[in-house]
Amino acid sequence: MAESTETAVEEKKAALSDTVAVDTDGFGVSAISDEVVLEVKNLQTHFTTRWGTVKAVDGVSYNVRRGETLGIVGESGSGKSVTALSLMRLVPSPPGHIVGGEVILNGRNLLDLSEGEMTAVRGGEISIILQDPMQALNPVFNIQNQVGEAIKIHQGLKGQALWEKVVDSLRKVRIPAPEIRAKDYPHQLSGGMRQRVVGAIGISSAPSVIIADEPTTSLDVTIQAAYLRLLRQIQQEEGVAIVFITHDFGIVAKMCDRVAVMYAGRIVELADVRTIFNEPMHEYTKALIGSVPKLEEKTGRLPQIEGQPPLLYNLPPGDSFAPRSQLEFTPEEAERRPPLVEIKTDHWVQLSRSSVAEYDKYAHLMPAE
Ligand SMILES: Nc1ncnc2c1ncn2[C@@H]1O[C@H](COP(=O)(O)OP(=O)(O)O)[C@@H](O)[C@H]1O
Ligand SMILES: [Mg+2]
Repeated sequence: MAESTETAVEEKKAALSDTVAVDTDGFGVSAISDEVVLEVKNLQTHFTTRWGTVKAVDGVSYNVRRGETLGIVGESGSGKSVTALSLMRLVPSPPGHIVGGEVILNGRNLLDLSEGEMTAVRGGEISIILQDPMQALNPVFNIQNQVGEAIKIHQGLKGQALWEKVVDSLRKVRIPAPEIRAKDYPHQLSGGMRQRVVGAIGISSAPSVIIADEPTTSLDVTIQAAYLRLLRQIQQEEGVAIVFITHDFGIVAKMCDRVAVMYAGRIVELADVRTIFNEPMHEYTKALIGSVPKLEEKTGRLPQIEGQPPLLYNLPPGDSFAPRSQLEFTPEEAERRPPLVEIKTDHWVQLSRSSVAEYDKYAHLMPAE
């Protein structure tokens, strides 16, 4: 990324205040509607392994509104991808099982649908853009066939109408000369163009929700910025909700409206992006923000977060962040599983003395044991 996180946060603030500034008629102007399109409730996905049960997703809840980008951020292994795959019901089984919770998309619980119904939802109402475009594209089919296949399945178009829709989808992701590029095979395109093709497949059925799982990790930084800008543009044009998964807080500042911070399969903090950057409450969020490399500090080294991410098949019973926490607390205080508490309007924190320095200030909000 070309700018520091601080600059990005400033830009974000400016963008947010712009939205308020155009609110002249008193009804509020915002690209984000109040309509909740996706509601995840207490989702639990476990893997059965030789070493025990891995609680990769351990009671995750959030909602996403139309036109909104919710960032899911956390270190590698925190359960971000398994959460995404669970929403799509694509968790490899065995060893994975969704053992509890609800995934409500446009009012229907996806976990109750038959496999056939789910096939229609996937790539239709909800689609996923993965990290590596080569994984999503088949090397032996040209772009026209691959984009066309998705459209055929979900919209039943054929012939000229299908061709026009393919070209239109490629145009939406700003692929130059789409009629010509449609005849290309994946290996003939650059990495950035391939990821745009995956994006075209993702938006071709006008989904309510796009899940983007580290979509720019395989791209070069300059292309990353262009791709992310494109995603935001498409979002404004289509009003789609985006669940944007990343381990990069610098990208979060530019892309997301709200942020859920994941640790060991749970959400430890959830708030709008400004609050997350300006008033982080959980020690893990603070550490992640502190580990964002700033370009002006050209040390070439990332500050490290102390300690290792926990092994998920052997989690401590209560607050899984406690072993890495620098705060002072008793073993008993770390043993209780911390509840996610709304400490201020729309600011949720997994509250415990072992993870939150200002615990005493909010302790009265703790539910009775
Ligand atoms: N196929 C699998 N079998 C067993 N455990 C798995 C499998 N896939 C993922 N996991 C576990 O789930 C945890 C979360 O993984 P993942 O969601 O991919 O993390 P990330 O936040 O990096 O996307 C991993 O730490 C791993 O222990
Ligand atoms: Mg992942």
